Amino acid sequence: MSGQLIDIFPLSIFKDKIVIDEKEKNLMINKIYDIEKISRENLNNNNNIWNDKSVWLGDINGSEFLLKNQEFKNLSKKIGEKILLYVEALNIDTKQLKFYFQKSWATVTRKEQNIQVHSHDQSNISISYYLKKPNDSGNIRFACRPHNEIAKDIFSEEKVKLGLIKKVDLRNTTTVDIPVEENDICIFPSKTKHSTAPSNTDESRISISADISLMLVDSYGHEKLMPHFNNWQEINNS
Ligand SMILES: [Fe+2]
Repeated sequence: MSGQLIDIFPLSIFKDKIVIDEKEKNLMINKIYDIEKISRENLNNNNNIWNDKSVWLGDINGSEFLLKNQEFKNLSKKIGEKILLYVEALNIDTKQLKFYFQKSWATVTRKEQNIQVHSHDQSNISISYYLKKPNDSGNIRFACRPHNEIAKDIFSEEKVKLGLIKKVDLRNTTTVDIPVEENDICIFPSKTKHSTAPSNTDESRISISADISLMLVDSYGHEKLMPHFNNWQEINNS
């Protein structure tokens, strides 16, 4: 081929490892199973239709501040360190910002289950940490409309099946799976659409997710970006 394709505007997913000793890990795993059990009982008592085929998501119903539990103190510190590495890797001066976990929760995936495509639009940075990740329990899958989409849905699965797209590659794909193992952490912009590939194993997979908000230490000179909440004024609505 003559000519040249210059690939621009990458999306960067940060991946690293956080290794925790087995004893501490088991405490966290058991805590998550306890929270899951209570959550399922509450849902049943409230006559919510609970589908046993669904992944258990601890992001609502009172279990969405997981990292505040004592068992997760060490892990939340280590996750915080990785978040700073990620932000620094984007050439952002972390000293000028403050970072807050706004919510954090566990997910438990069993055989043939997966998490549907979603994004965490109320947040800036999201993480996924694999506390228990058996083989074949499903990778994280990122989704986007490719920048190269010259006609709507031209790179869709349907068009691939029909043979219009001769080869799927990074320039035309709508999904990318990132292989993850136990102890891996992935960090990415919260607006990024993602899902999980279905689990094909009898062993359950446990991941921990968190949403992080960032704000300026000092908003002087910054027209955009959230000022620190220390300077916010509450509106009385009582
Ligand atoms: Fe998510």
